[in-house]
Amino acid sequence: MIKIFHLAFVLISIFSFVGRVILSEIQPEMLKQKVLKIAPHVINTLLLLSGFILVIQGQWLSGEYGWIIAKLLGVLAYIGLGIVALRSQGTARWLAFAGAIVCFVYIGIVAVTKNALFFL
Ligand code: HEM
Repeated sequence: MIKIFHLAFVLISIFSFVGRVILSEIQPEMLKQKVLKIAPHVINTLLLLSGFILVIQGQWLSGEYGWIIAKLLGVLAYIGLGIVALRSQGTARWLAFAGAIVCFVYIGIVAVTKNALFFL
């Protein structure tokens, strides 16, 4: 059940991020709305929280947990690059945006393979 919530927050998080980047290009003044400022924090907090609950529920820390650490670092990079993408402009914005998407895809593949170095 928690996994369904987790996957829902994963989807809501990426759609809200891409949506805000599009808005910041075409209608940046809309991003000043209170709800659009608060919602991403709520979504990302719930994403992290559901992830932590899954870690405890699945007792993932009692085994090989390198992939959990990789996911956490990936999430930090995804959020950090997301902030840069939304605050900068031009090439810097698009590089940060591409980086955030790469992180997101990496986190997703690590989640499924349970292997931080799946590409080796
Ligand atoms: C952008 C961030 C995230 C993405 C894209 C993501 C993606 C996913 C996906 C696709 C699954 C399903 C894997 C499967 O059923 O095979 C999953 C499960 C899981 N995620 Fe995340 N996740 C994210 C954040 C986190 C965080 C921050 C944590 C905790 C530190 C976490 C911990 C877990 C755990 C423990 C599972 C359950 C694994 C299982 O039961 O097989 N996730 N995640």
